[in-house]
Amino acid sequence: MLPPTHKALILTSIGSPLHVATTHPTPVLTPGSAIIKVLCAGLLSYSKDIYNGARKYTLPTPSIPGSGAIGRIVAVGNDATSLQTGDLVLCDIYLRGRDDRNVGALLGVHDGHSAAAKRMVHGEWRDSTYAEYVKLPLENCFRLNEEKLLGSFSSASTPSGGGVGGLGYSVEELLHITSFAVPYGGLRDVGLDICETVLIAPATGMFGSAAVKVALAMGANVIAMGRNASALAQLKTDHHLTSKESGGRLETVLITNNVQTDTAAIASFGLPVDVYFDISPPSASESTHLRSGILSVRHGGRVSLMGGIKGDVAVPLGYVMHANMTIKGKWMYEREDVLKLVKLVENGRLRVDGGSVKKYALEQWEEAFEVAANEAGPGRLVALVP
Ligand SMILES: NC(=O)c1ccc[n+]([C@@H]2O[C@H](COP(=O)([O-])OP(=O)(O)OC[C@H]3O[C@@H](n4cnc5c(N)ncnc54)[C@H](OP(=O)(O)O)[C@@H]3O)[C@@H](O)[C@H]2O)c1
Repeated sequence: MLPPTHKALILTSIGSPLHVATTHPTPVLTPGSAIIKVLCAGLLSYSKDIYNGARKYTLPTPSIPGSGAIGRIVAVGNDATSLQTGDLVLCDIYLRGRDDRNVGALLGVHDGHSAAAKRMVHGEWRDSTYAEYVKLPLENCFRLNEEKLLGSFSSASTPSGGGVGGLGYSVEELLHITSFAVPYGGLRDVGLDICETVLIAPATGMFGSAAVKVALAMGANVIAMGRNASALAQLKTDHHLTSKESGGRLETVLITNNVQTDTAAIASFGLPVDVYFDISPPSASESTHLRSGILSVRHGGRVSLMGGIKGDVAVPLGYVMHANMTIKGKWMYEREDVLKLVKLVENGRLRVDGGSVKKYALEQWEEAFEVAANEAGPGRLVALVP
């Protein structure tokens, strides 16, 4: 039996401060859904700017904001075929139309880009994960192998020579999977293959640094580009610690905003760039890395545009045309991507430890948003723990 009310962070209107309600009605189970007890929910570096209106994102109000989360199922619709009460799940906030998968919205972040998407979010699915309980469509709950991921590891040798047991992660570390999912969606969308080279820019933010880890785990070589030399150095240190799993080569390039210097630096590694992956924030609209990135791609190569630069950007059309280049935009990922990503993590090929997760109670949301904005960087996550 679920309690009739629960604690939740409430967005009354975009631009006004959030507040914690302690007796908000608990979501009610409907067919095709699950109710999940939220164990931790991640923050974006720009969460504050979503709810204060700076990003100009739209959402229904009042509603419960949120982001990707880890939780435990406490009730499932009677049409569930595989999920069960007690399952540890990744809560995916990327809502897709059940009768049209091309319609999408991000629960608690953005109500989508069409009237159909807004209809889903302003009606049945308006509340997200910054609460004790959340209701999600069954297909947005990804069961995690709890024993493998959270179980402790023993180095005692087995007949095959390896250790036994789990990977020894904390529940909060599993939140990294939600940030890995975004670049994994883009990298798979352009078919990044083992032993190929991907240039990633900017590579020092939450999704950019996640892209570096994910690409290495996919068996690719990575050239990570950024304007922050110490954050780039940290990427290399982290990779040094985890290179046993990935084996890929990691190089870094400082963005100087001189296209000739930057393309020469990229070329100096002698690694033909098969894919350029862009994950720029709006603030990077004046940076030249998009141009340097595209100009570095080999003949027949691919570009994945996942960044959030507003407005139009110039593309070196002659080079793109003569190089037979493919440029693809990508919003989020496919369900299949998340299933494969979870396997990569459960198999230990993509590790979620080695970074940091700062935890805050719902009441500390303001401090949490500030820390997320000011301390975003490789492997660093901020979470609300309802
Ligand atoms: N397509 C999708 O599905 C999707 C999904 C999620 C997010 N996004 C987009 O991805 C963007 C990045 O998200 P995030 O969470 O990784 O952001 P983040 O953690 O804030 O990282 C921002 C990155 O951009 C760099 N940067 C900032 N200003 C720059 C400038 N003027 N020139 C060059 N680099 C600059 C930062 O470098 P420093 O380390 O030097 O500050 C950092 O590497 C978001 O803003 C969003 O629009 C897209």
